[in-house]
Amino acid sequence: MTKKIYVKTYGCQMNVYDTERMVDVMAHEGYEETDKPDDADIIVLNTCHIREKAAEKVYSDIGRLRVMKEKQVKKGGKDSILAVGGCVAQAEGAEIQRRAPVVDMVFGPQTYHKLPEMTVEADKSKKSGERPRIVNTDLNVSEKFKSLSKKGVSAKKSAFLTIQEGCDKFCTYCVVPYTRGGEFSRSYEDVMQDAVKLNDAGVLEVTLLGQNVNAYHGMSAAGEQWSLAGLIRHLADTTDFQRIRYTTSHPHDMTDELIAVHGDVEQCMPYLHLPVQAGSDKIVKAMNRHHTIASYMKTIEDIRKVRPDIALSGDFIVGFPGETDADFQATMKVVRDVEYAQAYSFMYSERPGTPAANWDDQVESHVKSERLAELQQELNRQQRAFNDTTVGKVIPVLLERTGKQDSHLVGRSPYMQSVYVDVGDAALAKQYFGKMVDMKITSAGPRSLKGEFVS
Ligand code: SAH
Ligand code: SF4
Ligand code: F3S
Repeated sequence: MTKKIYVKTYGCQMNVYDTERMVDVMAHEGYEETDKPDDADIIVLNTCHIREKAAEKVYSDIGRLRVMKEKQVKKGGKDSILAVGGCVAQAEGAEIQRRAPVVDMVFGPQTYHKLPEMTVEADKSKKSGERPRIVNTDLNVSEKFKSLSKKGVSAKKSAFLTIQEGCDKFCTYCVVPYTRGGEFSRSYEDVMQDAVKLNDAGVLEVTLLGQNVNAYHGMSAAGEQWSLAGLIRHLADTTDFQRIRYTTSHPHDMTDELIAVHGDVEQCMPYLHLPVQAGSDKIVKAMNRHHTIASYMKTIEDIRKVRPDIALSGDFIVGFPGETDADFQATMKVVRDVEYAQAYSFMYSERPGTPAANWDDQVESHVKSERLAELQQELNRQQRAFNDTTVGKVIPVLLERTGKQDSHLVGRSPYMQSVYVDVGDAALAKQYFGKMVDMKITSAGPRSLKGEFVS
């Protein structure tokens, strides 16, 4: 019988990409992916440590899996390997196995290329009647990419391509520099090798990924340094990708060269996720964000000059230590001035090992929730308003998945909105699946659009 792997993904797109690569490496070892944990020989939780809630969710999932595994073993079923990967694994390492002895294997985000070896080792321990206790939290990124670039890619129409990893910015609230390690740009040749593979597999939309993707500065074998802007132009010229996106960008690294790309590279989509986090200079400085509110607003102005219809997105943290009502109102002002197409917002969460967690001017939790509610009300209004502006327009939609019913398809607009269409019957839906189709937007909701085919 073929062996099976189940992976649950938490957190950011980086983890989504990593999960796909894990499935790839294990497919090479004969493992098939399953969406049922009780079917799997190895269960991997690819975890996120960004906020306390995200990390705690992992422990409750482990609890549930422990019960499932106990039942299974009692019935004489397989004793699957339970592995915790990703950022919680990196941050809490061996502590996970202490807190949850049922976990056989703990491995950080830069080690999953070793998953086959670790699995063989875990299997061996199990056969000899011991509990495997494998912990691997190396942070050597280049080694991971080296061993993965040889493997295959899955054939979807929209794909992620990681070009940069890790972060050197050290925002005072954030765990990423500790869980992913320092900033690392993949070489031009490595990136292009993967891009060509995706292109050959018929991918129409590529999203270039990095924790700070616009800080990309990969070298070529000839000793040339590539910027993100240069890379996007080159991909637009040399591949058949119809859509190129990138995420996440830091305001500090939003160069004029990159802004210009939005103005004259047709394939570069009119959507930009550019988190400002907070609206007062005092708070962004305490956050160690390396930009001011004025410089952020100038970037927004410049990008709208070259691409007036661009959809802007962002991240916000409310209740950062020392945030007063006036500071929070400054955040509301930035939001009102920018008019976002969509955005993510969070209550500040104290993360172990980060500087801000030790500061004594923490904001009370009821204040955080009140501020979050006020902010989200405005962001929701803006998202709805943006969605309303697309009603009546004809826009290209990449139909990438089926909806609730067989005759429904769901795709994305150039502006990253979800677009639903009911094509009438399942056979037709199959025919349009994975295609880029011009659609007329007939109505808008708070989170999505409805459309119909124009021809
Ligand atoms: N590299 C990206 C985002 C990384 S994490 C960037 O710099 O913009 C995604 C988002 O999670 C962050 O933008 C921030 O808004 C949020 N976040 C990170 N740490 C947090 C914390 N301790 N509490 C609350 N939100 C946090
Ligand atoms: Fe975290 Fe800041 Fe780096 Fe983004 S730039 S990953 S928020 S430390
Ligand atoms: Fe979470 Fe790690 Fe991504 S902490 S947000 S999964 S980089």
